[in-house]
Amino acid sequence: MGILDNQTFVTLNDGNKIPQFGMGVYMVAPGVVTEQAVSEALNLGYCHIDTAHAYQNERSVGKAIRESDVPRENIWVTSKLWPSEYGHGATAQAIDKMLKRLGTGYIDLLLLHQQFGDYNGAWGDMEDAVAAGKVRSIGISNFESSHLEDLCNNARIKPAVNQVECHPYYSQDDLLARMKPYGTIIESWYPLGHGDAGLLDEPLFAQLGKEYGKTSAQIILRWHIQKGNVIFPKSTNPKHIAENADIFDFALTDKEMAQIKTLDSGKRFFNMSLEDQEHNLGNWAPED
Ligand SMILES: NC(=O)c1ccc[n+]([C@@H]2O[C@H](COP(=O)([O-])OP(=O)(O)OC[C@H]3O[C@@H](n4cnc5c(N)ncnc54)[C@H](OP(=O)(O)O)[C@@H]3O)[C@@H](O)[C@H]2O)c1
Repeated sequence: MGILDNQTFVTLNDGNKIPQFGMGVYMVAPGVVTEQAVSEALNLGYCHIDTAHAYQNERSVGKAIRESDVPRENIWVTSKLWPSEYGHGATAQAIDKMLKRLGTGYIDLLLLHQQFGDYNGAWGDMEDAVAAGKVRSIGISNFESSHLEDLCNNARIKPAVNQVECHPYYSQDDLLARMKPYGTIIESWYPLGHGDAGLLDEPLFAQLGKEYGKTSAQIILRWHIQKGNVIFPKSTNPKHIAENADIFDFALTDKEMAQIKTLDSGKRFFNMSLEDQEHNLGNWAPED
């Protein structure tokens, strides 16, 4: 029996079923490092990979998927468009280029990576890409300002997910309540606090880990699963890749979930102002 045989799926507001657990490849070097990490994960039963144009490793993700023994329809691939690709017409072209880079035939989930620029123009092209069968589900990332309601109220297809920073110190319960009218769920980035030692060393996680024979990282990831969050912790370490997946054979009690809730202090690990984020948008070279 594989460690991911009991993994869970979430039904999105468009009816598609997304694997609730996967692996992210932010800051993973393109080429052999990404290919090996993705292959390692797929061999263990992972069936969900989260990448982005801005991570510059889509080609490597696609290569590892094509070379794996896992049928394409059993793998969920998410990627993200950068604001320089937003706008009616420009986004349609950017989607076609992304499909070529990935080489996966279609994209399971396509996100607007940031809430800047002509996101409404981009969204229209993304809706058309769904109708054309190029993309199965569409969503947003880092929409936490009033741009969230602006986009949702203009959209024909409501965003399936909003991918945002989320972990026990920053649970995003308020954002989830705001998104309820649209049926949009949370995908957690920095699910392990980007590997922050302070979060991983919380005594409560060590105590619960001892009780269940799990590591602190596994307790945190299990908390996300029971909250209903979709997660894709990043790792290039084979030990961590296996450990992170081994969270489907135990459950935290309601009391333990409530204990973890007491850690929700609003602390974020990514603290760049919106102005600085917008200023830095051009800090990398988009690929063809
Ligand atoms: N949409 C956005 O703007 C956005 C922003 C950030 C991230 N994301 C997505 O979210 C994914 C996850 O975020 P992230 O990679 O920044 O942070 P993360 O998954 O919270 O943490 C990754 C860090 O934790 C370490 N780690 C992984 N498993 C561990 C374990 N079992 N025990 C101890 N340490 C462990 C990793 O090191 P090793 O590699 O050595 O294991 C790495 O340093 C990204 O890869 C990306 O797909 C999206």
